[in-house]
Amino acid sequence: MLLKNLRPASDYDRFATETLAPWDLLFMARIRQLARDLRPGTIADIGTATAVVPVGLASDRSMGAWCFIGVDLDPTMLEEGRPRIRERGLEERIALHVGDAQALPFADESLTMSVSRATLHHLPDKAVSLREMYRVLEPGGVGLVHDMRRDAPQALLDKFTRMRAAANYPPTHLEEKLTLDEARALVAEAGLEAVSVVTSPNGGLSALGFEILMRKPAQVLQ
Ligand SMILES: C[S@@+](CC[C@H](N)C(=O)[O-])C[C@H]1O[C@@H](n2cnc3c(N)ncnc32)[C@H](O)[C@@H]1O
Repeated sequence: MLLKNLRPASDYDRFATETLAPWDLLFMARIRQLARDLRPGTIADIGTATAVVPVGLASDRSMGAWCFIGVDLDPTMLEEGRPRIRERGLEERIALHVGDAQALPFADESLTMSVSRATLHHLPDKAVSLREMYRVLEPGGVGLVHDMRRDAPQALLDKFTRMRAAANYPPTHLEEKLTLDEARALVAEAGLEAVSVVTSPNGGLSALGFEILMRKPAQVLQ
């Protein structure tokens, strides 16, 4: 039930590396931008699938001081991603863990960033998963969620459908995605309104989705 609407790992990896590449670049650029203001530490990618995002970031020279943990509920996804990590000699900087986004396998305040893309819509308890991503952040840490909007511009939804068709993927299950207002309501339900901003750009490929940006306040020195 949790892993509904997903293809086998090898097929998903092909789709992720080919069709989703433009969105990968946007997501990674956003993470790099946010990371610039933080002291390098560990970034966990929740619902990492075949670890495309951790590998892309760890291969970037500007992220050379960061370590990464990919978490996914599906061990076959992680296994599909391991060769990619080995081939690039990134075993020291990227760890992969089987784990549930709704009960993250990390201590409170143990990560500098928690990020997640295209995973929120799979989760039965989305509010819990947001609280988990926030819980694990150290003071000053940043949580970032990108997911597709059900109310994205029709032209962009049509373009995405054509891109999926070119990769032999059926149209996306739009009914399981959130609208921008639903994403805002979810953040309120999670009790994270005061520390979060929910946005979606007006144009460009990013307009296909929304962003939830959570910032844990830095500790006030006594
Ligand atoms: C659509 S894929 C997105 C993968 C990757 N983040 C990306 O953007 O390409 C969703 C991923 O979430 C994982 N997933 C689903 N439910 C999960 C859960 N409860 N906890 C952790 N991962 C989960 C799936 O196994 C899958 O790898």
